[in-house]
Amino acid sequence: MSTAKHDLACPHLADLTPYQSARRIGGSGDLWLNANESPFPREPMTMDVSEYHRYPDRGPGEVHAAYARYAGLEPAQVLALRGADEAIDLLVRGYCRARRDRILLCGPTYGMYESCAQVQEAGVVDVPLAADDSLDLDAIRAVEDVRVVFLCHPNNPTGNALPCEELEAVIRHFAGRALVVVDEAYIEFCPERSTVPLLARHDHLVVVRTLSKAFGLAGVHVGFLLAGAAVMDTMRKIVAPYPLADPCAQIALHALSGEGIARMRAEVEQLAAERDRFAEALARLPGVVEVRPSATNFVTATFRAVDSAWEALLAAGIIARRLPHPRLADAIRFTIGTAADMARVLQALADLPGR
Ligand SMILES: Cc1ncc(COP(=O)(O)O)c(C=O)c1O
Repeated sequence: MSTAKHDLACPHLADLTPYQSARRIGGSGDLWLNANESPFPREPMTMDVSEYHRYPDRGPGEVHAAYARYAGLEPAQVLALRGADEAIDLLVRGYCRARRDRILLCGPTYGMYESCAQVQEAGVVDVPLAADDSLDLDAIRAVEDVRVVFLCHPNNPTGNALPCEELEAVIRHFAGRALVVVDEAYIEFCPERSTVPLLARHDHLVVVRTLSKAFGLAGVHVGFLLAGAAVMDTMRKIVAPYPLADPCAQIALHALSGEGIARMRAEVEQLAAERDRFAEALARLPGVVEVRPSATNFVTATFRAVDSAWEALLAAGIIARRLPHPRLADAIRFTIGTAADMARVLQALADLPGR
């Protein structure tokens, strides 16, 4: 293979750092609590591979119908993709012109909104969350000229769900001016807070979902874009053919069966109970300053001496997540695992000194 270098890539990509996913950051240990994955292993399943000499067909029709049934929508309002991440990427590509248009996000939040904007050469307006992690509505309303507004609900990495009235106020404010994308990757942990019912009233609203979190299928990487006809028309023009490989479609259909949804709900209940137990115990440790309330499968806590906390976790073989945002420099995010996993975390952090 030639080792000669060339510089034919788009110039704006030269200094771009790839998105630092949990897997890319890596680490050494045996307890992975850094990617908000499910701790529950999936069972083996048999697959019909007889049609694998053809391009996949099951993706569009059956998976859209199954997800629509689950979400209470029409199949035409559902687009199945390679994870919620592909939905975010398509939305930025479909609605932001390079070097002209901008997205709005409210940091600290999920990093892919900014990463996708950088790849597309779109601008980024960051209207930081207020000190209590709520939306700064006045500051959001003061921003002009954005094409896509990303609201992460519940927000990763702070863990809080946003009040419905505030979400609706932002959606109403941007009608006719910008798309409002509500990223509901963790919504199964607070399903009553979903903005999906608002899709009927707002054709500039898009909801992004995934099977990677509550459904426990990160390894299959299937996500959904939920929207009305105008957005779907645009998405169909730019999405690559056959976005869902057939094995992924078969596993998604299994997860979206009555039995699969019941199983997901039981696991969510178990994880939410474990999350609350863990958050309470963590808050009592002397080295912990604050544990943020969470409506998700993770808990973010700030520490008196975060480097010592991190070292203690590494020494115990636990990989959690440090957060790149300056406001969270003293924080660590923990994905909720099994009761035994979380007991190990508490034990690793128990001896950190207080003030
Ligand atoms: C808020 C948020 N949105 C989207 C994603 C990506 O989901 P997917 O695995 O479906 O690409 C994540 C993954 O961590 C996330 O935290």
